[in-house]
Amino acid sequence: METKIFRLVNGSGPLSLTPKYILPQEKRPNLSEITILASIPIIDLKEPSALVVEQISKACEEYGFFQIVNHGIPVELCDKMMAVITDFFELPPEEKAPFFTTDLTKQVKLFNYFVKDGSQNKVSMWSECFSHPWHPLDDIIHLLPQNPPQYREVVAEYAKEIGVLMKRLLSLISQGLGLEKGCLVKKLGEKPILRAQGNYYPPCPDPELTLGLNVHTDLNALTIVRQSEGVTGLQVIREGKWVAVESIPNAFVINLGDQIQVLSNGRYKSVHHRAVTNKTQKRVSVATFYAPSRDAIIGPIEDLIDEQHPAVYRKYHYSEFLDEFYKQEGTRRLVKEIFELKY
Ligand code: OGA
Ligand code: NI
Repeated sequence: METKIFRLVNGSGPLSLTPKYILPQEKRPNLSEITILASIPIIDLKEPSALVVEQISKACEEYGFFQIVNHGIPVELCDKMMAVITDFFELPPEEKAPFFTTDLTKQVKLFNYFVKDGSQNKVSMWSECFSHPWHPLDDIIHLLPQNPPQYREVVAEYAKEIGVLMKRLLSLISQGLGLEKGCLVKKLGEKPILRAQGNYYPPCPDPELTLGLNVHTDLNALTIVRQSEGVTGLQVIREGKWVAVESIPNAFVINLGDQIQVLSNGRYKSVHHRAVTNKTQKRVSVATFYAPSRDAIIGPIEDLIDEQHPAVYRKYHYSEFLDEFYKQEGTRRLVKEIFELKY
């Protein structure tokens, strides 16, 4: 296998574990405490749909995360998607530089996450991320990389398939809540914000000192993640403990974002997760997100509220949620708490 040397877009030489990356003690991952026994549920989409609905509903209530197999997206296409994003990250820094920005509102952006330590100093994450819309693509396709040469066409093809899978999952999740199939898609609005994010985690000399991606919940509604085969790194909180998400051939990891937690009035969970680094292998993931329209009104769905289940959240425009999110850059306080109703 060809081994390329990964270089950060804005780094000077090969990546090294300088103080800039070293987390304060209380933010380090404590890798010896990870549970590998109780991983997240694996759901076979070829099973009868009533069973699938039930399994997904249970997974959404108990874990906020699950993996799917037999999802219908060709493995070759997924492999191509992983290959083009990997090739992009492994370009020389000067070729990636035009995509680099610290302006998080840009449509197409290559960036590095950071967290703030106790003294408000920035500690960089051991990763690089590339984010852009996956639909509609026509307006922005000319802004996407031309190197690797297949990048644009592979993204377009992958996006088509992901669009179908997103709708299918939102329908299954709606049914799990006892709602009509189209309910969630309708609530999320006519112009959902649909973005993709590639995450590149180079091998790290000491994974105990760094994180690839800080602890967070996804702010959107639904996330579909494709990850490198044979390497773990994604971890989710389950009953107060960190659980590693297994790498399963040709599976997708699905997780709920904050908006489904709110729409379901807290019945389904948007769960904290993080990515840890690895001493020997790089890891790559592609997350595709489904978020509400900016003007969608998000709040607990009326059919899910009654005397026993009073609304836990107030209604808001999704744009308000986004504003709060951007204010919290580098800290990732729980945005959804701001929208909780106090009785
Ligand atoms: C994300 C995310 C997980 C991963 O991009 O929000 O959680 O495995 N990614 O890279
Ligand atoms: Ni995430």
